[in-house]
Amino acid sequence: MLFKYISRKVTVISRVHTRHVTNISIWRNDVLENALKFIQRNVEFVRIHGPTADEVTRDVNLTDKTCLITGANSGIGLEVTKCLLARGCKVLMACRNTYAANIAVKNVPCEKANLINIHEVNLTSLASVKNLSDNLQKEYKKIDIVILNAAVFGIPWTLTEDGLETAFQVNYLSQYYLLMNIEKILAPNARVVFTSSESHRNINWNMPKILSPSLEHLSIPKEEYTSIRAYNISKLCSILAMHYLGYRWLNTEKTVFCAHPGSFIKTRLCRNWWVYEALYTTMLPFSKTIRQAASTILYCATSPELSGVSAQYFKDCRRCEESDLASDMHLAFKINDITREILRERAPAFIDTFRVTDKPSASVPNVPTDVDKVQRVKENVEHDSLISSYTN
Ligand SMILES: NC(=O)c1ccc[n+]([C@@H]2O[C@H](COP(=O)([O-])OP(=O)(O)OC[C@H]3O[C@@H](n4cnc5c(N)ncnc54)[C@H](OP(=O)(O)O)[C@@H]3O)[C@@H](O)[C@H]2O)c1
Repeated sequence: MLFKYISRKVTVISRVHTRHVTNISIWRNDVLENALKFIQRNVEFVRIHGPTADEVTRDVNLTDKTCLITGANSGIGLEVTKCLLARGCKVLMACRNTYAANIAVKNVPCEKANLINIHEVNLTSLASVKNLSDNLQKEYKKIDIVILNAAVFGIPWTLTEDGLETAFQVNYLSQYYLLMNIEKILAPNARVVFTSSESHRNINWNMPKILSPSLEHLSIPKEEYTSIRAYNISKLCSILAMHYLGYRWLNTEKTVFCAHPGSFIKTRLCRNWWVYEALYTTMLPFSKTIRQAASTILYCATSPELSGVSAQYFKDCRRCEESDLASDMHLAFKINDITREILRERAPAFIDTFRVTDKPSASVPNVPTDVDKVQRVKENVEHDSLISSYTN
């Protein structure tokens, strides 16, 4: 009896203690984070990390434009969304949780609120992506800007319902599939921006992998998995996809870019492991604010300076050389090949439009193109046929 009484008391005391300690540590974290954010805001004012989203789009008028953006309900995507709305752009927010998306934009002024359309998509499901793209094709005649921004990072190894490693599918495959499906309704001069990352540089493949990449190199099996490697591969794939699209749209006015928003930006991206959360919080005074992180994406998506230029990687609103692997046209074509193979096997009613053998579309002749780029693509295509003759 006495023993039961004492053990019940001990349990109650320990519960109260735990709650108390947890509350104190949450309070301490908030105080620390707010203090670091305060320093960061002052550093933003000093501008060592470049312009903010507002500054980059100050002279841009996006009335009559429609932009589709994935992962628009939080972090950098939300900041991009708010800035596009402020410039008069209609924004189609493609989000996993439409309730969270509604909450995220509740402070947008009413006159801009009617420019927002929220669409549900879960990027871990190709069926959900197909559903979204069917709805978009029914509801909209043209989309001018596409920003493929959603991502996950730091998650344990899991497979999606389509049997693929989650980061690979969410960060790259599903978003590329979405783009393939809505290509028909892209405006003739549409711009596509992949939110990529400098971390793509950490992938170094040997020659056999480069010559014949396979599904296991992209959707990593459990025994070879680290969350950082999976994330880096997905970001490498998005730059390679950009190069493939640059070739595909060579003689058209459609353009495609990759943008690195900045490193260690404190968003919900780091929420999956407390070590990342602590690291990103510590880096607050030394990293870009979210307003600054959105600037390169918006620059690529809207700047008139970039008309006639395509398939380039940007960082700090400036052209930047991607890694050698990421600029390899042979690999870009191979990855496009594997992507289509994966989709043919798994995606519902997949219509294979992005064939490697496709000649670049010639629907809009005499459009100014980046001469160096054209030259580079030609060289790479020659390199490609050389390699295929070598491997066949
Ligand atoms: N933060 C950085 O330091 C950093 C550095 C380099 C590059 N980037 C890139 O910047 C982009 C934006 O990231 P962020 O930092 O703003 O992170 P974030 O706040 O976590 O935003 C990621 C977005 O992706 C969405 N998403 C995740 N899984 C999804 C799924 N299965 N289906 C649909 N949507 C899904 C999230 O929706 P939920 O809210 O529903 O989860 C969220 O809206 C990412 O591409 C990231 O790789 C970030």
